[in-house]
Amino acid sequence: MTVTYDYTGRAVLVTGGTRGIGAGIAAAFLAAGAEVTVCARTPGADEHGGGIRFVRADVRVPADVERLIEGFDRLDVVVNNAGGSPYAPLAGTSPRLHARVVELNLTAPLLVSQYAYPLLAAARGAVVMIGSSSGARPSPGTSAYGAAKAGLHHLARCLAAEWAPVVRVNTVVVGLAATERAAGHYGGHGDERMGAAIPAGRMATPGDVARACLWLAAPGYVTGAEVRVDGGGEIPAWRHLASGDSP
Ligand SMILES: NC(=O)c1ccc[n+]([C@@H]2O[C@H](COP(=O)([O-])OP(=O)(O)OC[C@H]3O[C@@H](n4cnc5c(N)ncnc54)[C@H](OP(=O)(O)O)[C@@H]3O)[C@@H](O)[C@H]2O)c1
Repeated sequence: MTVTYDYTGRAVLVTGGTRGIGAGIAAAFLAAGAEVTVCARTPGADEHGGGIRFVRADVRVPADVERLIEGFDRLDVVVNNAGGSPYAPLAGTSPRLHARVVELNLTAPLLVSQYAYPLLAAARGAVVMIGSSSGARPSPGTSAYGAAKAGLHHLARCLAAEWAPVVRVNTVVVGLAATERAAGHYGGHGDERMGAAIPAGRMATPGDVARACLWLAAPGYVTGAEVRVDGGGEIPAWRHLASGDSP
């Protein structure tokens, strides 16, 4: 069975669409016929031979976001994907680092959505937030990130109610995902080892996340929802300990 989407004539913005999950989302919308714009602080290695428009913008900076949105004459979909955090245990790290993490993962998606709202309303469009399982369970070592993502999930529910029925707002809650930079984040371990922690047996790919975005951004009834793309979550460490395996 094949599910296809036709986004011909639709304009889509993917923040942080130059690499990792965002690049996969941008490629999926491009393949579905959309006019895709990505933004980041630096251009990606490959913008699909010019098929994807790149705008340099730091989504934490209001003037950048304003300029970014002014570059559109229509906008159907915003995917708030730019995000992330270094491993940063709260004790001993700078208040500025934690403030920047909250800005990137919570305030920036709020700003981008706010500036985009008039165009999205005109198109009866949709916002998709890229959330994280770190915002749905304790996230030791990335507490500010986890708290910001939990806030992002709630922001989506609030905006969904505030902007209904004109603009739909949903969240994709991503579990462990295999990207260019993921191995560094997961202690140098790639999909083979990390897959043992996931019921589905492997990490999510950018394509897995993109398919949920294509569905949530297409016209429909669903709003204020969280769709978990996490392969069933994470197998608790005590299960490995109880069975004598190392987690
Ligand atoms: N990878 C995972 O395992 C995982 C799991 C759960 C959720 N997620 C979420 O999925 C999203 C993408 O993660 P990823 O792993 O694909 O990240 P990534 O590989 O680090 O890519 C992040 C993207 O965001 C851009 N970006 C970062 N800071 C920015 C800023 N201030 N303004 C504009 N763009 C900015 C980056 O480009 P520049 O650096 O050039 O700006 C890049 O294009 C994030 O929201 C992350 O929290 C990831």
